Amino acid sequence: MFAKVFSAATYGIDAIIVEVETHIESQIPAFAIVGLPDNAVKESRERVIAAIKNSGYQFPSKKITINLAPADIKKEGSLYDLPIALSILQANESIELDNLSDFLILGELSLDGLLRPVHGILPICIKAKNNGYKGVILPEKNALEASIVDGLNIYSANSLNECIEILSDLDSKTPVKTDIQIIFEKAIDYPIDFSEVKGQENVKRALEVAAAGAHNILMIGPPGSGKTMLARRVPTILPILTFEEALETTKIHSVAGLLNHDQPIITNRPFRNPHHTTSDVALIGGGSYPKPGEVSFAHNGVLFLDELPEFKKNVLEVLRQPLEDRKVTISRSKLTLEFPSNFMLVAAMNPCPCGYYTDPSKECTCTLQQIQKYLAKISGPLLDRIDIHIEVPAVKFKELLSQSQGESSKDIRERVTRAREIQLKRFKDYPGIYANASMNNKLVKKFCQIDSSGEELLKNAITKLGLSARAYDRILKVSRTIADLEGNDKIQPNHISEAIQYRSLDRSHWGIS
Ligand SMILES: Nc1ncnc2c1ncn2[C@@H]1O[C@H](COP(=O)(O)OP(=O)(O)OP(=O)(O)O)[C@@H](O)[C@H]1O
Ligand SMILES: [Mg+2]
Ligand SMILES: [Zn+2]
Repeated sequence: MFAKVFSAATYGIDAIIVEVETHIESQIPAFAIVGLPDNAVKESRERVIAAIKNSGYQFPSKKITINLAPADIKKEGSLYDLPIALSILQANESIELDNLSDFLILGELSLDGLLRPVHGILPICIKAKNNGYKGVILPEKNALEASIVDGLNIYSANSLNECIEILSDLDSKTPVKTDIQIIFEKAIDYPIDFSEVKGQENVKRALEVAAAGAHNILMIGPPGSGKTMLARRVPTILPILTFEEALETTKIHSVAGLLNHDQPIITNRPFRNPHHTTSDVALIGGGSYPKPGEVSFAHNGVLFLDELPEFKKNVLEVLRQPLEDRKVTISRSKLTLEFPSNFMLVAAMNPCPCGYYTDPSKECTCTLQQIQKYLAKISGPLLDRIDIHIEVPAVKFKELLSQSQGESSKDIRERVTRAREIQLKRFKDYPGIYANASMNNKLVKKFCQIDSSGEELLKNAITKLGLSARAYDRILKVSRTIADLEGNDKIQPNHISEAIQYRSLDRSHWGIS
């Protein structure tokens, strides 16, 4: 006796179909699951036996073999409980459903036969739609997330019995419907705002420029100067997520099980701030069942690395690939996976180990050597990918007490969005390039032309301020963004001089250029 039920496995941020085949023979009772199952799948045996019995069916006292195909893809998790239980009942002729193979079916069973939610619903539902399945049957708590996929019938069940009932009497059941567009549109709602930050006008401006050109930015300032507070507010000034971007980001969070069941689609740009003790795998992803890491959770949003020099060297090194390629590629013997990781890097650090090197009100207790050693930790390839460095001074007490409100995130976001639109037009013939920060040398030459007075200014800055040569292209890119914010086609000397100010760490007084 044989039955087959279709389910799915996530694979990177996509899904593949998994066939759950059951063969039952009248031999000495046994129950085996084959096809590379991990521990959670093996444990599924115990749950399936109990759930079948507690749903009022007899568990066949026969030899049962379950095969999860294709065998060469690792399967993990508990989502096969429901398809396994159904295929056993069908193979044993305890139920007779003729439409079982029209659906993708997934869900974890509890011992009493109730269904629990599982991960990775969004990519699985997209797969179901693309492969022409009639619909998906899944646990109630996953239904909202599933209904994001337009034009796919979603049936949600509370238990094994309810699932059987749905399949037996499909015509009388209505699929779950949610107007995801409505949820999406009313949802951008950041609980924090730039207007809460008092003073710091220079730093806010630098963050606006960074957001406008998708430039990575490093803030340097003493403890308590507001670096973390400012960084948290960067997503609120980036352009509103498009629906496409929202879907991509949601998929990544979906496969990692980070989605909140009440909020099916991510509508705010993510902000991720891994601690400096984080491992390389946690940061960029990996593991034997490759999972996305922080850089992918930050996709289409902000990755904030606080206390940058405290991160382990190997961790900072692995950041280079995602910063460069905007995706992480993970290779395993048989497969190569890609996780998108297009984020804006916002980093923060103290100016020296004690924190007060640049603070006029407190004496720094570090030796020059200590300071240089501290700064050297972030020099080189990583620093090379950070276009803007800005010093964040301690806020004056008077400013903190002032009642005046700063500009709102919404107003800043409007300017940023306009500047981004100019860039989208500029790069429309250059696939993969959306903003000034991603220009290569050739594009800098093409789009960042300056006249002789600009040239003069830049040369002077490089010699007089002791700026490093590698600062040159970065200053040009940032000048381009500043001109875009102003709606100016041409880069003017005032744009260049502002951009020069954003190279704090290149100045010779830091000694690391
Ligand atoms: N410009 C500001 N306007 C309003 N509040 C501020 C400002 N700057 C700092 N604060 C207050 O000070 C607190 C500390 O700031 P924050 O944690 O952002 O500093 P930090 O620079 O990240 O410090 P550390 O180096 O210790 O991490 C904030 O939570 C906020 O309440
Ligand atoms: Mg902080
Ligand atoms: Zn110090």
